[in-house]
Amino acid sequence: MSAPLPTAPLVLGIESSCDETGVGIVRGTELLANAVSSSMEEHVRFGGVIPEIASRAHLDAFVPTLRSALDTAGVTLEEVDALAVTSGPGLSGALMVGVAAAKALALATGKPLYAINHLVAHVGVGVLDGGDLPENLGALLVSGGHTEILKVDALASDVTLLGATIDDAAGEAYDKVARLLGLGYPGGPVIDRIAKDGNPKAIRFPRGLTMPKFTGTAEAPGRHRYDFSFSGLKTAVARCVEQYRARGEEIPVADIAASFQEAVVDVVTSKAVLACREHGMSTLLLGGGVAANSRLRELLAARCASAGIALRVPRPGLCTDNGAMVAALAAQVVMAGGRPSGLRFAADSGQPVTAITL
Ligand code: KG4
Ligand code: ZN
Repeated sequence: MSAPLPTAPLVLGIESSCDETGVGIVRGTELLANAVSSSMEEHVRFGGVIPEIASRAHLDAFVPTLRSALDTAGVTLEEVDALAVTSGPGLSGALMVGVAAAKALALATGKPLYAINHLVAHVGVGVLDGGDLPENLGALLVSGGHTEILKVDALASDVTLLGATIDDAAGEAYDKVARLLGLGYPGGPVIDRIAKDGNPKAIRFPRGLTMPKFTGTAEAPGRHRYDFSFSGLKTAVARCVEQYRARGEEIPVADIAASFQEAVVDVVTSKAVLACREHGMSTLLLGGGVAANSRLRELLAARCASAGIALRVPRPGLCTDNGAMVAALAAQVVMAGGRPSGLRFAADSGQPVTAITL
């Protein structure tokens, strides 16, 4: 007979899908520790995350980050009920470091190991801030690596991908446009700041995948009704900057930043609200690094309010990639009676949201 399930399991979660090495510890829905080491500084001169550098940095950061999390939580590995790790989606090499570390810990301690979906973990983290997640839940995830709309019927067992970017992620678009404007990396925070001094209506940049041929109608939805595309927007900004240069005129950086940002947040918020309306989702959870964006928060709050949708935004340190979100989702899986993944699973860079655990 197997041991009874703890009602509030002590779970240690490991995250290494991109440039953050995270180890988080939760007891049920209570956050005990959230240690994160980021290699972002090492990617600055390249203007984006370099997978090989990120993988190497995970190797260096893992043990110190693990120690820090255990110290903060005041628990030992022996006390932990379950281990969890992001198995995908993400950068292959980066994922492999976390998965190998988690398997080693599981083997050494004999604790059950759960392979967790990174995207669903961005939703699961919501239980750590603001209490239980309601029914009829949707999620909007926006970061340097993803731009997705999810429908969450059951956090531990039933999640559907409604829409996603078909090219660049929203944060990636911020980073690329910041580079075009000579603003450095990461681009999100600096564009957010500079845009406050610009006119968001100065230049009408394209809103990707918003034409009826892509969106269709509620009765006959188009293939890309809830999908995003930001590469055309990035090209439009590049062309705009080029034109100013060719004319020898000063580039209106603040106006371009504000107009670019408006194009991104307009599409992201309107598609998320549309998906909520059409799929009966009455609460929307926002996650990912771009959730820090002031204009996105403002416009999303306004559009959700007028559509009667409750908006939940976990605190910033829980929105960006971290280990606590992995632990939080795994705790939900444990409490729902989900089976551990064993040691035979492999990191899956393309893990679909339907695979909440492997
Ligand atoms: O979630 P995150 O820390 O890492 C992953 O990409 O997984 O997100 C980082 C992304 C970067 O692209 C960064 O430019 C963007 O989030 N970002 C922002 C803001 N703060 C960070 N984008 C827009 N506005 C911000 N205030
Ligand atoms: Zn993420």
